[in-house]
Amino acid sequence: MFRDMSRLYGEDCFTGMNYLANAYGQFADLVITSPPYAEQRKNQYGGIPEKDYPEWMVSVGEKIKPILKPNGSAFINIRPHIESGEISDYVLKTRLALREAGWKECEELMWIKPDSPPLGSTKRPRRAWESILWFSPSNQPYCDPKAGGTESNRLGFEQSKFVEGGKSHIHGGQSKAKKGIARVKDYIEVGTSRVEKGLKHPAMFPIEVPEYLIRLCCPDNGMVVDPFGGSCTVARAAINEDVGFCCFEINDEHYEEAYRVTRDHIIKSGKESMYRDFIELSDVILGELHEQGVRAGIGEKELELSY
Ligand SMILES: C[S@@+](CC[C@H](N)C(=O)[O-])C[C@H]1O[C@@H](n2cnc3c(N)ncnc32)[C@H](O)[C@@H]1O
Repeated sequence: MFRDMSRLYGEDCFTGMNYLANAYGQFADLVITSPPYAEQRKNQYGGIPEKDYPEWMVSVGEKIKPILKPNGSAFINIRPHIESGEISDYVLKTRLALREAGWKECEELMWIKPDSPPLGSTKRPRRAWESILWFSPSNQPYCDPKAGGTESNRLGFEQSKFVEGGKSHIHGGQSKAKKGIARVKDYIEVGTSRVEKGLKHPAMFPIEVPEYLIRLCCPDNGMVVDPFGGSCTVARAAINEDVGFCCFEINDEHYEEAYRVTRDHIIKSGKESMYRDFIELSDVILGELHEQGVRAGIGEKELELSY
């Protein structure tokens, strides 16, 4: 059923999530999002002042709760910037504020970016990772750590200083290596060069990041939501993993681009029948967007360039 509900909404997620809660209740298994940072990209798509950020994120959480299953998860991709030689504290305060608001902070995962550009202070190491903060209404969220794992002959002993037959407190006295599927690691290593090419959005993550999270915390036939969709990479990851998606994007130009590439992705993947409703609606929606763009003075050429 849920794949039929797959949609990209070109609207404010606060209003949109209200609508989804009223229409479907707690339907989502997973939220994956990279929210606007505290005024870090305000020229590109706005931002929230640092002092207001914790409260603002709690208000996002209040919109997520009524659509998220009680054992669902919400992943937030964020890393604080350095200001006057010190780590800005708004992310720390946001994490505590979300806990105060009833969220369980289950883990901190990482996106490691080995090829990240040499930005930031030259007096510090090159920044090459971002946090993926994991929240849930439950302290036992749905999670299948073996879903994205790899086959191993030495379960529990890989890269460990402990050897087979030895005494290892880590493995609770187990002394024999087993064969099977190993759990995934708590980080995903994927270069920024893997970001989909040809899109205008300035802050996309590579599709491998949401794919990893979907395999980890979304059951078969599940549903993923991204309130701050951008180019809606999350939607295309959901398509690759055969689950449903709902993404919001407030900026018309990014929304139009996201819609086109997502539609093309379904067609290129040969999954039109799985996402039939989305494909059927797309001609109408893209036609309307095209009309609006032309009316708003965006030339045909610019529209074509935007995907
Ligand atoms: C960091 S970007 C997300 C990028 C995305 N992960 C990707 O791979 O393309 C955040 C996006 O949130 C959008 N946004 C900001 N406020 C919003 C709101 N209230 N509702 C919906 N979208 C919003 C911005 O326009 C921006 O495109």
